[in-house]
Amino acid sequence: MPLHHQLRSPLVLIFAAFFAKLPETRHFVLPDQRQIAYGIYGAHNATSTVFYFHGSPSSHHEAFVLSGAGRRHGIRIIAPSRPGSGGSTFRDNGAILDYPDDILALADYLNVTQFGIIAVSGGTPYGFACLRRIPPTRIQGFGVVAGLYPVTSLGTEGMKWPSRIMLKVATWFPGLVAWVIDKQFGSVARDEDESKLEALLEADMKQDSTPESERLAWEAASPEIRKAVVMSVREGVRYGGWGPAWEMKLLGSDWGFELDDVRPDEDNELVMWHGDLDTNVPLTMAQKAAARLGIHAELRVIPDQGHGSLTFQKADEIVGAMKGMAWRS
Ligand SMILES: *[C@@H]1O[C@H](CO)[C@@H](O)[C@H](O)[C@H]1NC(C)=O
Ligand SMILES: *[C@@H]1O[C@H](CO)[C@@H](O)[C@H](O)[C@H]1NC(C)=O
Repeated sequence: MPLHHQLRSPLVLIFAAFFAKLPETRHFVLPDQRQIAYGIYGAHNATSTVFYFHGSPSSHHEAFVLSGAGRRHGIRIIAPSRPGSGGSTFRDNGAILDYPDDILALADYLNVTQFGIIAVSGGTPYGFACLRRIPPTRIQGFGVVAGLYPVTSLGTEGMKWPSRIMLKVATWFPGLVAWVIDKQFGSVARDEDESKLEALLEADMKQDSTPESERLAWEAASPEIRKAVVMSVREGVRYGGWGPAWEMKLLGSDWGFELDDVRPDEDNELVMWHGDLDTNVPLTMAQKAAARLGIHAELRVIPDQGHGSLTFQKADEIVGAMKGMAWRS
């Protein structure tokens, strides 16, 4: 498909993005001395809080795409970077079910007693792990955007082959995948010339498998949003390939629980948003997951949408839905 809708030149966009300012990165030290890097977005002083779990490879900066919606709906969004990305310490042999302890520690430190969770793409298993491990009285709703579901029980049929291969290879040879990620992205992310990574992501965005709606969304996005997206990937890969590769190993393996173990009930709603043109995680996978999760899981299929831009295209609907979920008190 020809790209005849590039009204703004890339140079202007890169220039504007250079001056765009993102919220500061904060740090919290866990009892075992590991550091968690995180950011606060949306309505900073609101009492309604949602934790945002970024995709992979990515980092906390990704949550900036929901910042405007957070302010409009009066929701504070706290986004931590997972181990090995964004400045959070890598955790040797960390498991998906270890993650809820980090979130509880951060929530307690920030005096957040109850919170919702929005999990995006590769962050999805960590969200479900929180449903599994954190007392239900503390979790006030769960939103999944372009989620990745358990590949060992639901299969990867329909997923584009590079993702399938990476998930498979990472389960056996995470070191090899770490090397590939670092060679392909890490070295570019550490380059002094910041525009190189943006160019790499832009090239990826222009592949034939990327739906047109996604390309248009990227072109129409504000300089701040573009900067946040590039920054989220940069900070996701610049600390070396081990963080993202280990995560890929975890995503491609048995998570340590099944979706049947985390079925929401009427007090714990779950909404899943999924684009019908998603090739990273095919819609059929989300449909199979919804069936396993039972009647209190609502799957909202978004027509003509792919994977990467669903969060910012549906920002208001997502944050609004989180606000409207049955907040227990
Ligand atoms: C939150 O901050 C905004 C300005 O940043 C202020 O207008 C509002 O009153 C504050 N709300 C509370 C509950 O403190
Ligand atoms: C949490 O509450 C305690 C006790 O009220 C207070 O000292 C502390 O500053 C609060 N922490 C944050 C991050 O607001």
